[in-house]
Amino acid sequence: MSQKNNNRHNNQIIKKTRSLLIAGNWKMYKDHNEAYNLALTLKERLADISSIKVVICPSFTSLHTVSLALKGSSLLLGAQDVHWEKEGAFTGAISPLMLLLLGCRYVIIGHSERRNLFQETNKTINLKLKAVLKENLTPILCIGETLQEREKGNTELVIEDQLKGGLVDLPAEDVGKMVLAYEPVWAIGTGKTATPKQANDVHIFIRKKIEEKVGQEIAKNMSILYGGSVKPENAKDLLREPDIDGALVGGASLNEESFEKIVRSGIDLL
Ligand code: 13P
Repeated sequence: MSQKNNNRHNNQIIKKTRSLLIAGNWKMYKDHNEAYNLALTLKERLADISSIKVVICPSFTSLHTVSLALKGSSLLLGAQDVHWEKEGAFTGAISPLMLLLLGCRYVIIGHSERRNLFQETNKTINLKLKAVLKENLTPILCIGETLQEREKGNTELVIEDQLKGGLVDLPAEDVGKMVLAYEPVWAIGTGKTATPKQANDVHIFIRKKIEEKVGQEIAKNMSILYGGSVKPENAKDLLREPDIDGALVGGASLNEESFEKIVRSGIDLL
């Protein structure tokens, strides 16, 4: 049996080569008080965690209270979106610097809900990536195919197009600072998870494309998260896969117990 298969099937021989990152995307849930309370609870429940990066991404209106709640903990703060301009007459928009000053370290960019419901394109995603990197924030770039695209056999084409368009003119050094998240649209909020093998196969493809663009060293070290109906029940099987370096969790991150279980299933693999 190959080493890769060994990793997949034998619980004893799992070794992650990259550090794990578990991020909670709270989407448009929790007002600033609820968010504060949940963040405080998570800070207490996850106080012993240092070997895994844990990132919490509440809505813009909760960034301040959550950053206060997380003070003194290793949990990190992230935003769910950003505008690419530094400042100006852009009603409703938030700049990378504003996020940085609120204590953010990460920004989710190009989530499928932004692409599909708010008409985001690879072009605007590319502008956002560049703007965020300029402020030394870490972008979590989301990519993934719809059910229709998968059924047509176009998963790789779609992923390749999203990577190509999103990463236009980004120097290798900057690509190396990013985190990627593979989120098959058909698995988001549907309860349908990609099987560990399905997800891992796409992660391998993504890594190969990154390698073609910026070389093996950067590709090898890049964190590629999986997102789409990650739950305590399936987290360990997904995280055990050699090319899955963490999870971007939606629904299950809104509950302290399930989010803690997901984080702890990662610890067991280290
Ligand atoms: P769910 O975990 O609710 O499927 O959401 C995934 C997601 O969109 C994370 O960004």
